[in-house]
Amino acid sequence: MLAERTHDEVFADSVRAQLEIIESELLRAAEASTPMVTEAAQHIIASGGKRFRPSLVVLASHLGPEADPAEVVRSAVVVELTHVASLYHDDVMDDARLRRGAPSANVRWTNSIAILVGDFLFARASDIVSELGNEFVQLQARTFARLVQGQIAETVGPSDGEDPLAHYLKVVADKTGSLIATSAVFGAKVSGAEESVQQAMAEFGEEIGMIFQLSDDIIDITSDVTGKTPGTDLREGVPTLPILLARQSTDPADARLLELLDSDLSDDAALAEVLTLLRAHKCIEQARAEVTRRADLARATLRSVPAGPARSALEELCDTVVTRSS
Ligand code: IPE
Ligand code: IPE
Ligand code: MG
Ligand code: MG
Repeated sequence: MLAERTHDEVFADSVRAQLEIIESELLRAAEASTPMVTEAAQHIIASGGKRFRPSLVVLASHLGPEADPAEVVRSAVVVELTHVASLYHDDVMDDARLRRGAPSANVRWTNSIAILVGDFLFARASDIVSELGNEFVQLQARTFARLVQGQIAETVGPSDGEDPLAHYLKVVADKTGSLIATSAVFGAKVSGAEESVQQAMAEFGEEIGMIFQLSDDIIDITSDVTGKTPGTDLREGVPTLPILLARQSTDPADARLLELLDSDLSDDAALAEVLTLLRAHKCIEQARAEVTRRADLARATLRSVPAGPARSALEELCDTVVTRSS
């Protein structure tokens, strides 16, 4: 006799099934009028990725009375296409070589092609979001504007007298928190969730989005299994949380580390040395502690959301985002 499946197992299966549909719709949305553009546009999508934003859409779509499955799929495709397009552009900005374990589009083709393919995917996302209505169009446009301003602020750096940590946190909220928050809001909206639940999803998404990027910045230093080149932020001179914390050190034992942080890290041996020093430095633990503190804040925003398997899954995300290594 078949064992009776729990409510949570049935829920997990339905989430998985929706994510499979989203997967094929993503590839379809990237089809262009020439095989070359289709190949370039599908390149990063087909290379994998965690699908964090589509997963949030799907989970949040269980918080309201009822969601049209087609609208859930559209919402998820819009946020993931927006994300993937920003990755094409980001890899040009960061001169990254590897994305999702595959050569980045700027390496496989050229910077120009990577930029244009990113634009093409943004256009596809705009097309699909229009089917969801004005409110969604406006939210996606405002999110995209915030994301881009975050990327610009990171590139420009803090202005004179501005606190570098405050600048960094604002960059993280804008470049990453914004789209993750919108993913959660899209899911809640298509399910007809109450205004208070949509608001809770905006706060939750913003907070977990911050944590997601803070974790990403830690594992840029500590992990060899991200499908990206470790130390890319260091090489590009992007001062992330662990680096900002390490820079506060007055310990003479950190002299070499501080010297390396201020040096040209284009040389592989110099980058390897700074990564080894940072991995053993207390700044990593301090940054992790900050991520854990923020995960508790994210979890607290879920109190006003109806209890059930979707809320439990969102609570679980607060833990996995802290402990993730890829
Ligand atoms: C990478 O995003 C850029 C950040 C905002 C940290 P993800 O970590 O979601 O990348 P994929 O989609 O899994 O490749
Ligand atoms: C990427 O930030 C954020 C966006 C693409 C908006 P990062 O530069 O830190 O992301 P990775 O590490 O390349 O994925
Ligand atoms: Mg990057
Ligand atoms: Mg970047």
